[in-house]
Amino acid sequence: MPKDVWGPLVDHYDEWHSYMAGADLVGAVSRAVAGAVPRGYVVELGCGTGIYTRGIARSCDRVLALDASGPMVEQARVELAHLANVEVREADAYATGLPDGEADGVVAVNLLHIVPDPELVVREMRRIVRPGGSVVIADATVTGLSAARVLESVWRTVRRPEGFKTYRRGQHDISQTTLESLVHEAGFESVAGDEIDGKVMNSAFIRATAPAVSPIVDA
Ligand SMILES: C[S@@+](CC[C@H](N)C(=O)[O-])C[C@H]1O[C@@H](n2cnc3c(N)ncnc32)[C@H](O)[C@@H]1O
Repeated sequence: MPKDVWGPLVDHYDEWHSYMAGADLVGAVSRAVAGAVPRGYVVELGCGTGIYTRGIARSCDRVLALDASGPMVEQARVELAHLANVEVREADAYATGLPDGEADGVVAVNLLHIVPDPELVVREMRRIVRPGGSVVIADATVTGLSAARVLESVWRTVRRPEGFKTYRRGQHDISQTTLESLVHEAGFESVAGDEIDGKVMNSAFIRATAPAVSPIVDA
């Protein structure tokens, strides 16, 4: 399991996330993700406290929400206890341990920009989604913001102690273009989605479909 820099933030995470991304963007991303997930069984990677899990759960039959942080998992279980179709488990997004092709959809919100190896996470998403199933990915980004707004975003991060607590080597901005390349390289088709613009930050947003027939793998 990766070192848990998110667990210490758990009591203030929702307020911190809304402050950093902007409440308007949180709402817009939540609606976009909920509107893009397929019905059926959806796996969410890096669910945190479950901010986006609620909307996903309204749109599909069953959600398995995974996070590597024990405290985040405990908090998400409390927050989502009223939703009978949600299960929360501790697991690493690089290697979930789930069977190949078992999910109708796989979601990751604000995960790829904080993991050192986003390609590996997207490959794991590709492995666990069924042929013809979908992945939905959103990541807050400063790409496309004016220089003044980028500086403001950096200042918003460093002026609060939480900003330092979330710092970990290997974090990077995931723009819409980067996200499109990541899903193409992992073998997804029918890539659709547009950046969602907010008042404080923007978010890259994508829905992509796994090929209907699994690629033939040499024995
Ligand atoms: C920025 S938070 C995003 C949480 C939630 N998706 C949201 O947007 O509010 C990143 C989350 O990813 C989790 N995380 C980090 N590395 C992970 C990994 N390798 N596998 C699973 N979860 C991971 C952290 O514990 C944290 O809860």
